[in-house]
Amino acid sequence: MGFVKNTEDINKMRIGGKILADILSELRKMLTPGRKCLDLEKEFIRMCQKNNVTPTCKGYAPYGMPPFPTGLCLSINNQSVHCFPRKKVILKDGDVVTVDTVINYKGLNVDAAFSTIVGKEKDGLKKKLVDTAEKVLYASISEVGPGVRIGRISNKMQKIVESQGLNVLKDYAGHGIGREMHEYPEIPCYGNVTDGAKLLEGMTICIEALVCTGGDKVINASEWETRMEDGGYFAQAEHTILVTKDGYEILTLKDK
Ligand code: MF3
Ligand code: CO
Repeated sequence: MGFVKNTEDINKMRIGGKILADILSELRKMLTPGRKCLDLEKEFIRMCQKNNVTPTCKGYAPYGMPPFPTGLCLSINNQSVHCFPRKKVILKDGDVVTVDTVINYKGLNVDAAFSTIVGKEKDGLKKKLVDTAEKVLYASISEVGPGVRIGRISNKMQKIVESQGLNVLKDYAGHGIGREMHEYPEIPCYGNVTDGAKLLEGMTICIEALVCTGGDKVINASEWETRMEDGGYFAQAEHTILVTKDGYEILTLKDK
């Protein structure tokens, strides 16, 4: 039952969640044409130090994988999950950019991501992609509550995304989170309402809307980095959510 958190751990995740929301909102402002991707990483590491949190992705090495090289996951256009900011890569007008990261506050992790379009370009398809990822994240979150089957979340996500003529990734999924970045249960972006286990009060989960404009097939570009096989665009929206007695609480939202 390690996946049901006690009050002390929940409170740590609440604090970490606010810190992560603030950090991501600062990084969002930096997504301008001409920006060096490594500058985003440097600023992220600086903000982690300032806030007394550690960047969980940096050095993350599950099942014999090489250590993840950076604190941020950063994907551009047809790059998909688990890409990192690379030297010499510079953002340009019209790029679809995804920033995804995990921080650890006093032993507890929180994970969130967003996508946006750099600069002034208003390509209809890219805009639809980014807007749908965000919209479907909130629509799926609205299903969350104790006793709710994970399949309700997954099914809602898939239905809305496909109704827009877009697709969900099948090879990657949302997940539980806590002392580990990835915990039970897995939360796929597709499926039937009867799939999966029921959520319990006190679970902390990451719902990840993983959306693409073309086919859902993802290929590896290196041991970590992935891209859409057909060159379509990719976008992602993710929050860490607490299952409460009568619904949910989004932990990675900024205070108003
Ligand atoms: N939200 C991403 C995930 O759950 C964060 C990955 S960090 C990485 O997969 F280090 F694994 F890349
Ligand atoms: Co995640």
